[in-house]
Amino acid sequence: MKKKIRIGALISGGGTNLQAIIDASRSGSIDADIAFVGADTPAAKGLERARQHGIPDVVVDYAAVIRACRHEPGRLLPPEDFRLEDVRGKQAIFPPSADRTTVDAFLTCRAIAEALLLKAMPPDSFDLLVLAGFMRNLTPYFIDRVNTDRARPRIMNIHPALLPAFPGTDGYGDTFRYGCKVAGCTVHFVDYGEDSGPIIGQRAFRIREDDTLDSLRRRGLEQEWQLYPECIQLFAEGRLTTVRMRFERPGGGAFERTVVKVLPKKR
Ligand code: GRF
Repeated sequence: MKKKIRIGALISGGGTNLQAIIDASRSGSIDADIAFVGADTPAAKGLERARQHGIPDVVVDYAAVIRACRHEPGRLLPPEDFRLEDVRGKQAIFPPSADRTTVDAFLTCRAIAEALLLKAMPPDSFDLLVLAGFMRNLTPYFIDRVNTDRARPRIMNIHPALLPAFPGTDGYGDTFRYGCKVAGCTVHFVDYGEDSGPIIGQRAFRIREDDTLDSLRRRGLEQEWQLYPECIQLFAEGRLTTVRMRFERPGGGAFERTVVKVLPKKR
């Protein structure tokens, strides 16, 4: 029997990508079992999908944590191993010009929620963590505790646009409103920025003249349900590797970026 990887999935909403991954796992089209599903709200409809399949779930109510951070300072404390300077220095969610107090409050409060997640889903309980419509940025505090080997990232996200175009929360909406002729979705490893990590796979499709935002979103999701399991299977087969690339620019200077190389299938 083939060795299977253990997947943890984080969701915030309906969980149709989670369903696609559950189905792929059940049908054997990916060599993976889902160890647990985590959510940032008890209202995440996708939790029901996990429960129907007997998959354990973990809920950390981010909204309640954020309310406590704002209105009851001191009630929830950051984890003991939280180093604000380190996390602030690494994060790339906010630009360097952002207000320091706002950034520090955000990072500290998120680390409180993230420590609760890490406690409920210890990093050694999964091989790969997939974000499937998880609508929260992860901070370096969390990412470093999952990616203990920096050369082997193991948090994936699916984004509803052809990155690096249209990062953020409404990829299909932004694509549609911009008047693009092509839309798509991207699976990437998570790094310290927002939707900025090394790209694993993408699907593109033509936008039709009669498309509405709803029809575009529907067609986009259908692509996502195929793309995500494919990328997970590449990970399960050990075919994803990251390489630091450096390119000289024609006008002088250099461009560096970590990219994913997909290794050929072993025979
Ligand atoms: C998807 O469009 C995904 O790309 C984005 O959030 C949406 C989640 O949908 N990150 P679902 O919860 O998987 O149905």
